Amino acid sequence: MEICKLQKKDKLIVLGLMSGTSMDGLDICQVKINRKGENLDARMINFASYQYDPEFKNYIEDKLTGQTQDICRANFDITRQWSKMVERFLKEYSIDKSNIDLIGSHGQTIWHEPGHSTLQIGEPAVLAEDLRIPVIADFRVNDVAAGGSGAPLVPFIDYLWFKRYKKTYLLLNIGGIANFTIIPEDAKSNHDIYALDTGPGNGLIDAAISFATQGKLTFDLDGEWAKAGEIDQNILEELHDHPYFEKSPPKSTGKEVFGSQFVKALIDKYKIQSQDDFQNLIATLTRFTAESIFKSYEKFFADKYIIDEIIVSGGGARNPVIMQHLKELFEDAEFSSPHKYNLNIDAKESLAFAMLAALRIWEIPANVPNATGADRPVLLGKIIYAK
Ligand SMILES: Nc1ncnc2c1ncn2[C@@H]1O[C@H](COP(=O)(O)OP(=O)(O)O)[C@@H](O)[C@H]1O
Ligand SMILES: [Mg+2]
Repeated sequence: MEICKLQKKDKLIVLGLMSGTSMDGLDICQVKINRKGENLDARMINFASYQYDPEFKNYIEDKLTGQTQDICRANFDITRQWSKMVERFLKEYSIDKSNIDLIGSHGQTIWHEPGHSTLQIGEPAVLAEDLRIPVIADFRVNDVAAGGSGAPLVPFIDYLWFKRYKKTYLLLNIGGIANFTIIPEDAKSNHDIYALDTGPGNGLIDAAISFATQGKLTFDLDGEWAKAGEIDQNILEELHDHPYFEKSPPKSTGKEVFGSQFVKALIDKYKIQSQDDFQNLIATLTRFTAESIFKSYEKFFADKYIIDEIIVSGGGARNPVIMQHLKELFEDAEFSSPHKYNLNIDAKESLAFAMLAALRIWEIPANVPNATGADRPVLLGKIIYAK
């Protein structure tokens, strides 16, 4: 269907595709979105998360640190995987392809340099050709072009979802990197909300466990390694000295800063070798993740906003040790499950990119200048389709 026909529709069925910095797999969310003026009403219909097999994950990660040729190839290889995963999703949920109006694809971030540039791969022309569904992709670059850092982009969706409840929310997503949005109870528009990347999410823990097991394990399942280790207060203090935490928001970060190189430097410096050493390191990094989230709130927002409710999404919400630390740190706030608000721990980001795609079609600007530092609200995403 041509784009102008989509623009005339007030109801869209959209697939949101999310491959986050953890590079664990592709999340696919089918969302029904109704437009009511500038308001959107959205409902999640189906969701699935398809893991990359470890061989493919290693292959792509290898390519991403390679030469131009490797990145060029990865751009297509990863998208062919996504096309297959979307086909699998449609089959598993008996969805007729002709009922899908649009795909919103976040892409795989391979470099993110706030203040300068950002690059997501996952060639949308491949999705459009393989699936014959119009695709919106490359959401971040419009915001960067307008002087922003291109992240975080979910805050506008958080605002649309939560503005009807009159409470002060902190909406935390713990992916490879962690970010939160604060929606004050008296927010009148998206200019009254705040968001930032707080620093590491699961990314450092994932990298540490991968070093500890030579890639056999990719994450600390249920926080078992963290539970077995002891927090090293010296290392913890040193970690908080990182200059990112001094910077005032708006700000965003990525794996280039809080990723495997960061962990490798710690392993070398502290001569981490034995399983015990690694358990202690993982205990420390897990505490560091939770503390850096709390300190971002404490340093920049605590004097203005008292949080009523915290909702945690992303894979980090499944790590009981991170959650335990957070509950201890944010002792006065109520923690609620995303389910209370018809959201799902894993689906929030893919749902957001489905909604961002619909906003692009309806030409509603969707970045939040307070969150990204952009000069103005702009349309997000490039449109591509195959006839
Ligand atoms: N049961 C679990 N125990 C501990 N950590 C988990 C668990 N499930 C998921 N995770 C963490 O969540 C990460 C994936 O989170 P996700 O929200 O998909 O991040 P991203 O958006 O960066 O892809 C995994 O790499 C892992 O660190
Ligand atoms: Mg993921």
